[in-house]
Amino acid sequence: MASSQLSSPIIIIGGGTFGTTTAFHLAKKGYTNVTVLDRFPVPSLEAAGNDINKVVRTEYPEPLYTKLASDARDIWRDPNGLFAGLYNPSGWIIGATDRSTPFVEASIKSAKGLGVDPPRLVPTDEIHQQWPAMNGGFQGWKSYWSPNAAWVNAREGIVRMAREAMKAGVRYISGTAGFAKQLLYDENQTCVGVKCADGTAYFGSQIVLAAGAAAGSLLDLEGQIVAKGHTVGHIQLTPDEVEKYKSIPILDHLEGGILFPPQEDGIMKIGACHFVTNYAKSLNGISLPRYRSDNPKDNIPAVIEARLRKWMETCVPDLAHREWVETRICWDGDMPDYHFLITSHPTHKNLKIAIGGSAHGFKFLPVLGKYIVQMMDGTLDPEIAQKWKWRPGAKLSDYETNPHPEAPEDLNDMPGWGSDIKSPL
Ligand SMILES: Cc1cc2nc3c(=O)[nH]c(=O)nc-3n(C[C@H](O)[C@H](O)[C@H](O)COP(=O)(O)OP(=O)(O)OC[C@H]3O[C@@H](n4cnc5c(N)ncnc54)[C@H](O)[C@@H]3O)c2cc1C
Ligand SMILES: *[C@@H]1O[C@H](CO)[C@@H](O)[C@H](O)[C@H]1NC(C)=O
Ligand SMILES: *[C@@H]1O[C@H](CO)[C@@H](O)[C@H](O)[C@H]1NC(C)=O
Repeated sequence: MASSQLSSPIIIIGGGTFGTTTAFHLAKKGYTNVTVLDRFPVPSLEAAGNDINKVVRTEYPEPLYTKLASDARDIWRDPNGLFAGLYNPSGWIIGATDRSTPFVEASIKSAKGLGVDPPRLVPTDEIHQQWPAMNGGFQGWKSYWSPNAAWVNAREGIVRMAREAMKAGVRYISGTAGFAKQLLYDENQTCVGVKCADGTAYFGSQIVLAAGAAAGSLLDLEGQIVAKGHTVGHIQLTPDEVEKYKSIPILDHLEGGILFPPQEDGIMKIGACHFVTNYAKSLNGISLPRYRSDNPKDNIPAVIEARLRKWMETCVPDLAHREWVETRICWDGDMPDYHFLITSHPTHKNLKIAIGGSAHGFKFLPVLGKYIVQMMDGTLDPEIAQKWKWRPGAKLSDYETNPHPEAPEDLNDMPGWGSDIKSPL
């Protein structure tokens, strides 16, 4: 590659999962003038990727993601690599009822096709025998066991990767100086830079939009991305309970919730599979995140909390009514077909897009940036580029690929919300 190209200025908007992996892989490839702008310092307190744990699984109906996930997993679990010590091979139980069974069955088929151990059906008595702590009746569960999945310390993963990028010369700017407010274009609609909240403008020969669920506040995405909020709560286990629950697998019912084994400090994370949107009128009719940083009094929706606790009664009833020590609505940008949006903008030259994590993007942190850089260089495999292209009006072509069949509900229609919605940005 020409050295002039490697020294050309590149601006990345957003230093979450997609932005960090892009910065890291640009530096690795020899790019020397890379700047990451983020509203918050790493790890951004509003980044979807900033979390105590995330699932790394290879189960996907789509062979592309099974392949990417197994490549990523090899790096996550390398005891001598960047992420040493962050990978916890707990396995997982995927629960499905009628509506999500096709997703699981398609994943099994895809695993078999690639020679990966597929998940297998596991009866409730076997669950009780193997993991006595999970003593619920598992009502509504068709349970599949997969030893292939693990959880990783997500926050520490992003921090380590960002630190490596910084060591390699990437500049990180946060606060009002990193809070992007407006993309800048020249007279020919070429994207030339970005203006931040403090008035500073940054110019680059490529501008990468990696602002996650909030990307729609900077660019008309033509309805492609819907910001969806995931309700999450943490509970604190006692040391005896940690002992009791520490070897349980991840429990993920695709129509109920997800629950992780306790961390060393006894914190257990539980998340809802009923997502929320925020179609506030003030936001031009698109769903954008409603961040707690802008709305400090926000709690979690009571309706969703109640459902989540009811779901916990089916698997870990002894924990179903604990106080939360922390709650959060965590926002991600969803594409209707769950493929990422990693592409050049169709009309604004030099504007590159890397968003659309669609509730499953974190696990690819170690490898995804390699593909984003290929997209920027114009060397991305055309088959992958086709899946990640700019595609307004795209729909889920095949019901089988929908892992989250529950329709999202709008925060503004929920009791306790609605009256005081302000623009989050
Ligand atoms: C609760 C929850 C659980 C999940 N679980 C999993 C899982 O188990 N496994 C998995 O693989 N995936 C999981 N995901 C999905 C995964 O976290 C996301 O797909 C992924 O993190 C998206 O990365 P991103 O970089 O697009 O967004 P983010 O990580 O959210 O990063 C966006 C960044 O942009 C910054 N930003 C926003 N607006 C601006 C602005 N105007 N100017 C400057 N900076 C800005 C933010 O501060 C943030 O740092 C989960 C998501 C959630 C919410
Ligand atoms: C990076 O690019 C910017 C914008 O062109 C320029 O002002 C700056 O001097 C460059 N920095 C380095 C280290 O090359
Ligand atoms: C815009 O395009 C015109 C016609 O090709 C060209 O003459 C002009 O220099 C371009 N402007 C910029 C800022 O590149």
